[in-house]
Amino acid sequence: MQINLNRQSGIPLARQIYQEIADRIRSGLLAEGSSLPSIRQLARQCRVSFMTVVQAYGMLEKEGLIVRVQGRGTFVGQEKKGEEDVREGEKLPGYDWQLTIADYLPRAQFWLRQQHVHTEAGFSFSLASPHPDLVPHVELGKAMQKAISADPAIMANYGPVQGDGELRQAVALYLAKFRLSLHPEEMIVTSGAQQGIDLVARSFIGPGDIVATESPTYSAAIDVFRGRGATILPVPVDEEGMRVDFLASLCDKKPPKLIYTVPTFHNPTGTVMSMRRRSRLLDIAQSYRSIILEDDPWSEISFGSPPPPPLKSIDENGHVIFLKSMSKILSPGCRVALLAASGTILHRLTAAKAVADLGSPLLSQRAVLSFLQSAALGKHLKQLQANMQKRKNRVIALLRQHAPDGVRWMEPRGGYNIWLTLPSWLNADELVAAAIRRNIDFLPGSACYSGEPEYNHLRISFSYMSEEKLQQGTIALCRLLAEAVSTRANRAKPPVV
Ligand SMILES: Cc1ncc(COP(=O)(O)O)c(C=O)c1O
Repeated sequence: MQINLNRQSGIPLARQIYQEIADRIRSGLLAEGSSLPSIRQLARQCRVSFMTVVQAYGMLEKEGLIVRVQGRGTFVGQEKKGEEDVREGEKLPGYDWQLTIADYLPRAQFWLRQQHVHTEAGFSFSLASPHPDLVPHVELGKAMQKAISADPAIMANYGPVQGDGELRQAVALYLAKFRLSLHPEEMIVTSGAQQGIDLVARSFIGPGDIVATESPTYSAAIDVFRGRGATILPVPVDEEGMRVDFLASLCDKKPPKLIYTVPTFHNPTGTVMSMRRRSRLLDIAQSYRSIILEDDPWSEISFGSPPPPPLKSIDENGHVIFLKSMSKILSPGCRVALLAASGTILHRLTAAKAVADLGSPLLSQRAVLSFLQSAALGKHLKQLQANMQKRKNRVIALLRQHAPDGVRWMEPRGGYNIWLTLPSWLNADELVAAAIRRNIDFLPGSACYSGEPEYNHLRISFSYMSEEKLQQGTIALCRLLAEAVSTRANRAKPPVV
């Protein structure tokens, strides 16, 4: 089992070991009954003291995530696999040799868990995808059939590495509405924005390179940068977006090679970076010769005044790589996004795309193209925006009505997510198991931090469930939170005598 320790993070090593193992157990990656390495083995492997592992195992045991069985070892599981339940001579499962193979996906465990849970969960707050009825699947399906009939060769060809030329043209035209003036030749079609982030990371980030990100940020981006061995510089966020002043104060000591930002309807908080900060961020990138990766899946889903123009629209010297996903506004299943850059950065990204997959599937590119060119696009986007605004308003109203005292939230200015803050003593990671038992699934906020996590947050996405389920689910979630809050409150009360 590979434990990735960050010795510069300031987080105690025992805490880091505890967290990595706890994540793996909670996600199901480490199955119940799995044998964990001995204290001595793990201490040697992690190059930490014996006592550090003792402390980490102690924390896991206290939470009921592992049991230590005298003379037999340490196992994943709770009481029922405890010492008293192991009969004399009974064989416990051995250590899984596969766990000795190192991986570089430090927190992919969360995604495994989500994949597993959202299919069964009644109340899926973790999935920031549009409800299936809001995806124009009939039109996309017809477009795919038409594309094959018109040109059967598309199933026999790889297609251009940079992506379908007509699609790039249509997207350039579409993005002009956002004050972006991009040439189709400056774009690469990627398999979702996730691949766009990966291409940027694999092209420009290696061990020790500094990547600045908002903190909290989009969880799966952290995994990509960590996977490249980057040192991540977490920059706090407030109502005006990334604290660019904070970034500036760190830059002399730690100039970032890459600044990853979701300036418009930031994931997970739903805030918008002000124009003032956008300009300042660009100045910083110019001063320190940094690249900015501007990730923009949400601009269209605005709940108030329109957001400021993208950073890319004020970038005169090619510092900004702009990433536009079609997942949130059209269809995550098509896996289509566009990466826009210029100069040699563009050429290097194109080379990375070739190495990654030789080009994205043409069929879904043609389907997206057909929809972008159709008269239905405007109406679809209007309906989607209105539906999401209605959902957001409903959830906020329900939270006001049912959330217990001490639970706060940020009203998002756009996007699909609401960021909840629990009382500081309540750990959202520890609520996951109880939530799953009630068929509620949410993203624990700790997944969104690259440095010392804050455990008292959760991200709820209101986009995926039916509206009826969303209503029931929000009430059920509030009930769960109320019980968690009252448990502590009751415990704190003096005993009745
Ligand atoms: C900020 C951000 N970037 C990227 C992605 C991944 O999107 P895609 O489906 O295009 O890969 C998401 C998905 O939630 C996101 O929120």
